[in-house]
Amino acid sequence: MAPDIAAMKGRGEPIVALTAYHAHTAAIADRYCDFLLVGDSLGMVMHGYETTVPVPLELMIMHGRAVVRGAKHALVVVDMPFGSYEESPAVAFRNCARVMKETDCGAVKIEGGRRMAETIHYLVDRGIPVMSHIGLTPQSVNVIGGFKAQGRRQEQWAAIEEDAQQVADAGAFGIVLEAITEPLAARITQSIPIPTIGIGASRACDGQILVMEDMLGLSPRVPRFVKKFGKVGEVIEGAIRAYAEDVRSRAFPTPEHTYPMQGEGKAQPVRARERVGADSARATKKPKNPSSK
Ligand code: KIV
Repeated sequence: MAPDIAAMKGRGEPIVALTAYHAHTAAIADRYCDFLLVGDSLGMVMHGYETTVPVPLELMIMHGRAVVRGAKHALVVVDMPFGSYEESPAVAFRNCARVMKETDCGAVKIEGGRRMAETIHYLVDRGIPVMSHIGLTPQSVNVIGGFKAQGRRQEQWAAIEEDAQQVADAGAFGIVLEAITEPLAARITQSIPIPTIGIGASRACDGQILVMEDMLGLSPRVPRFVKKFGKVGEVIEGAIRAYAEDVRSRAFPTPEHTYPMQGEGKAQPVRARERVGADSARATKKPKNPSSK
């Protein structure tokens, strides 16, 4: 739950987080992460948008549900997309409550510092745990003029530090610091009582988060701050190339991938037999426990 993440501040053990967008990768990441973020980066990573601005609330809910189904231990935080919370605290509450009810997630994340402090207070006061996101806020890309690192000049620090202080005072349980310099991240981390989660914000933060597809080596372009821990894109391409070659050369499928005849009976069409198998498998499957969070 969100208070468990907040309580990790100052324990000396960095908080580990990743984005997740679907059930099976969430189930894997769940074994290693303290929280999973259903980031609105899914618009760019999975749906081919140029920015996160067009992402609709319904998409966040759909992916949020999938991740909650996959995660058993980690806190699931769902990003509120652009346009779903900025208008007023009451609009934010309505949409955040919908996300929490329909996904069963444990918290939401909203972008913005001082300007969102009143909303964060309103939400937390009404039972919605909020993670904040300051520094580079991708939903403001059209105002900032691109995905640019923030606080690279010292005269910019005071405003970002004030953002951090105000969202912490408003009751956020953690803050994502995106694309800010190490000395600024260190000052913020030392001065507020809630954990800072860095993405391109150095090791001075209390924890780290990356976009899963970026660190897996699946995204075609990644920001400077990403370390690729895998070459999943190459693995996928290799497997698809081999499949295409095998189908074209008729090396696949072989008899081991084909259904043998049963007894002496007349062969049924494969599709019909598969449907019977699938239906009986579904009928014998135990219902899953609801999320343990
Ligand atoms: O949408 C997202 O993936 C995020 C991370 C960059 C923190 O907000």
